[in-house]
Amino acid sequence: MSDAEPDAPRQRFNSESEELLVETFFTKPAPSQVLPTEGVTPRAAYNMVSSEMMLDGDPDKNLATFVTTFMEPEARMVIAENLHRNYIDHAEYPRTAKISKRCVRMIHDLFNGPEGQDSPGTACAGSSEAVMLGALSMKWNWKKRRKDAGKSDATPNLVYGADVHVVWDKFCRYFDVEPREVPVPKGKTTMVAEDFRGQIDENTIGVVGVVGTTFTGQCDDIVGIDAMLTELKGKGLEVPMHIDAASGGFVFPFSHPDFEWDFRLDSVVSINASGHKFGLVYPGIGWLVTRTDEQVPEELIFYEDYLGEKDATFTLNFSGSSSFVLAQYYQFLRLGHNGYSSVVRSMTKNRHALADQLREMDAIEVFDDDRPCLPLLIAKTRDDEPFDSNDLVGELARRRGWMVPAYQLPPDNENDRIMRMLVKFNQTRELVDALSDDFEASIKYLRHKGAGKHPEPPTHTGHGY
Ligand SMILES: Cc1ncc(COP(=O)(O)O)c(C=O)c1O
Repeated sequence: MSDAEPDAPRQRFNSESEELLVETFFTKPAPSQVLPTEGVTPRAAYNMVSSEMMLDGDPDKNLATFVTTFMEPEARMVIAENLHRNYIDHAEYPRTAKISKRCVRMIHDLFNGPEGQDSPGTACAGSSEAVMLGALSMKWNWKKRRKDAGKSDATPNLVYGADVHVVWDKFCRYFDVEPREVPVPKGKTTMVAEDFRGQIDENTIGVVGVVGTTFTGQCDDIVGIDAMLTELKGKGLEVPMHIDAASGGFVFPFSHPDFEWDFRLDSVVSINASGHKFGLVYPGIGWLVTRTDEQVPEELIFYEDYLGEKDATFTLNFSGSSSFVLAQYYQFLRLGHNGYSSVVRSMTKNRHALADQLREMDAIEVFDDDRPCLPLLIAKTRDDEPFDSNDLVGELARRRGWMVPAYQLPPDNENDRIMRMLVKFNQTRELVDALSDDFEASIKYLRHKGAGKHPEPPTHTGHGY
């Protein structure tokens, strides 16, 4: 059929429909203010989006993110094939709901939860949503305890260290809870029980312990905090603990199975973990896991039947794709306990290799100790160098597009500007070695520059020479 025939379907490019395809999208700025009046062909739309993505960083060189940047083709098939399934439509997609429950129970078991629970937790968009739901449960349980005791529930507070992720400040502001944020003591990077003791009172809805902090990958002294809370309970003050294991939840059960940070400790009532971090799924999936089914108060569960069947939900969001729940289940099946252990071992080995190589460069101080830590590396430039960590990460970006964050530690330690490198599964030894070579060359270059010499341009490492 030709375009000349009266009723022939015509491929429509845009309002000037005869315009050549290439001119429709290569010669005009991308629409940015108002919805375009006419559409373009699928290929043109695709190219407009994908060509702009070339200007973003390459996720494989993003050593800043905790989030998964590699999944196998079969996992991507699961994601692609189920993107159109709305997770919340439990009546229509009962198997997805069932699979989600299986994941919750597997994680609950991994975190040593007590047996006999049916649905101790829920899938979330990420750890942030899981944190909000876990903290809301603690708030409502505290309210009930106060009501039962005939006391006021007007002034709840939450106790945590300044080593937490910003999501905890968000929770307090959004849900009207006084944040009792304790500074990280000078010279330290995590919290111990005595840092918190003076802040806890009868209005404390809970204490937050971090297992794998965003800043350094280390852990608060969870065992010590639990012992203090148990002691307070013995004196009549019941204060539960929530564990933020956004990153650590899928690392420490495999790297340090004897490290007690989870439901083995009596005061731990809930735990969040990001499936999209070391759970090895693309963003966004997170999990809230509770010690028992009863930890979530009935008042926070909403029932509706407008999707065809009476359904209970405990979420902040409503709609969202099923893909990432299913992808989590895929990873659990694909890797199993041994597979996750092997992934964690390989990340740890490569992290040690990077540490060893950087330690040999006298411009860099590597932070290391024997305590459980995520597979990430914290380092800083020595004070007597003519450049700082910011200059160094800038040079690494210029050479090969590495994205390494340099940032300040929380208040009281803010003079320490550190660099953090996540050594994820896809950061292979070859890539670790290339990064370390680039460190070496960057240091040499910056030293020359700092000494006022005309530095030699970078040798042939990146593209385009
Ligand atoms: C310790 C900690 N808690 C919470 C979060 C928030 O997690 P998400 O990005 O899954 O919402 C992060 C993110 O990096 C984190 O490191």
